[in-house]
Amino acid sequence: QDISKKKSPGGRKISADLFGLFFEDINYAADGGLYAELVQNRSFEYAPGDRRDWHPFSFWQYITPGYSYGTVSVETSSPIHPNNPHYLVLNAEHVGDSGVGIRNQGFGKIPVRAGDGYNLSLFAKRMSGAPVSLQVSIEGKNGKMLAQHVFEIAASEWKQYNCSLVPSETDDSATLVVLATSKGKLALDVISLFPQKTFKNRANGLRADLAQLLADIHPKFIRFPGGCLVHGDGLGNMYRWKNTIGPIEERLEQRNIWGYHQTMGLGYYEYFQFCEDIGAKPLPVLPAAVSCQNSGGTWRIGSTGQQALPMDSMQSYIQEVLDLVEWANGPATSFWGSKRVAAGHPAPFNLQYIGIGNEDKITPEFQQRFEMIYQAVKAKHPEITIVGTVGPFPEGEDFSKGWEIAKSLSLPVVDEHYYSKPEWFVSNQYRYDTYKRNATRVYIGEYASWGNTVKNAIAEALYMISLERNGDVVAMASYAPLLAKNGFTQWKPDMIYFDNTRVSPSVNYYVQQLFSTNQGDTYFDNVVKYETADSLFAGGCVQDKRTGDIILKLVNAGSTVKKVNANLSKFGNIVSNADCTILQGDPAAINSMDKPNAVVPVRSTLEVKKDLRYEAPPMSLTVIRIKTR
Ligand code: AHR
Repeated sequence: QDISKKKSPGGRKISADLFGLFFEDINYAADGGLYAELVQNRSFEYAPGDRRDWHPFSFWQYITPGYSYGTVSVETSSPIHPNNPHYLVLNAEHVGDSGVGIRNQGFGKIPVRAGDGYNLSLFAKRMSGAPVSLQVSIEGKNGKMLAQHVFEIAASEWKQYNCSLVPSETDDSATLVVLATSKGKLALDVISLFPQKTFKNRANGLRADLAQLLADIHPKFIRFPGGCLVHGDGLGNMYRWKNTIGPIEERLEQRNIWGYHQTMGLGYYEYFQFCEDIGAKPLPVLPAAVSCQNSGGTWRIGSTGQQALPMDSMQSYIQEVLDLVEWANGPATSFWGSKRVAAGHPAPFNLQYIGIGNEDKITPEFQQRFEMIYQAVKAKHPEITIVGTVGPFPEGEDFSKGWEIAKSLSLPVVDEHYYSKPEWFVSNQYRYDTYKRNATRVYIGEYASWGNTVKNAIAEALYMISLERNGDVVAMASYAPLLAKNGFTQWKPDMIYFDNTRVSPSVNYYVQQLFSTNQGDTYFDNVVKYETADSLFAGGCVQDKRTGDIILKLVNAGSTVKKVNANLSKFGNIVSNADCTILQGDPAAINSMDKPNAVVPVRSTLEVKKDLRYEAPPMSLTVIRIKTR
């Protein structure tokens, strides 16, 4: 409908990209999580550097069923690609009744569903002797073969073999078995098993249920790939985007700062594609050419402190940042744009934001390098909005050094992070009311109150009211961390918990979803009033001018009912049947894997008038969406 002729109620503009997501590969969020690959250590690249007891054969098992024997070894002399140096050599000397080979345990076993298709892919070459029969199968937990296929490995050069496996039974604890069933010696690498049902059925895609939960938030942007993962805990461990694109067998895997391994199967192409698939703007964060100030400290003993790329490598590093813009937005005729096209995406990705740095300690080394990168990107790509960082947030420390840089460079946006008690969010809800307008805006790239209870989630909701109220100064905000796999977790709390087959969105998830799906573009002061003002109640009124909908968000973080009044007289005609969604619960209540729906939003219809009266229940977030005529 055309609302341009309607009475204009004024109001303050809210950032169009206010509520989004922050994805970091922490808690097995990528490999073993959102990235749908079912085989763990598919390329034999795990190493003691990932974890002291890990090695290239980790999560594989040498098996000799049926009185067979042979040998397996990991070799490096002629790999598929130098980025992927290790591969397995299987010498089947006596194959007996059933063959000789290897078994993969997946990420805490492999879940399969009867009748669904799974793409098996592997690279192999015959090393000597006659062609080898290679049987690949999905084996159920009781040893029953659920699906199988046999390849003849005749080529003496690396060749990719593919088939589709369709299990006859559902099994949450299957394994993948690869057996030479005829005598011979062969090399194997990148042994992959992927569900055909991925999110939007993308090849090399994402786990559909997890991706759908993220899509259901309707985030305006996604920041990736971290977090601390971006700057790494040493120069060799920084996340370098160029290592993460192209065929998966050519990507450079590396240690994950959170104490495990990154295959980079979920790389920049997949991140950008996912953003596009769910209508979110990509916000890639690149290292500011320095590593984490706790380098060497996260999973190892002792810290070597922040490390900085030497000045003589800065020009090539800056070029790497510039090349990202060309890769994302450049034409097919450009060098990096052609790589995007070759990967299957002729149209530009429409990259608008780039983050430089994550929570880096604000040292002279950081400042010098950040400024060099910032000036170069600004000069060559004024269309890109650079997001800076104001440093780490140990409780009580301020961000003043980072803000000095932001002011001196007139940065468009800087990233503030905070994790704290719910009380911190209540007492800091006026934080942005006094921030300077028409200056550097804020991206709250990471925040969470310490917990997943209703009390925590409602404290965040209270705070988010203040983000909308300050939507002219707060450009973006994203809760952190996003995903956590049960039993594989380094950081709590998180927004969504999952295991191999189940998902459990926290109460905090529903707060994010309610704000994001009910974001307005204009904020109105003095609409929501409550009987006895106190800091445990916050309410806001916004309008979505595209639809004309008026949206009230009312948060009661107290233990008694709060009487609220909203004066809607400044708006045109309203429809009396409003949509009302309430998220509420006992302050200590949580959602869990076994009770994922303990606290969920409840929708109903509410009769409203221009003089709206409402009683906000204790520990609740209410969203009232009112149509206008
Ligand atoms: O969100 C978890 C971690 O918290 C991020 O990696 C880091 O940026 C912050 O310290």
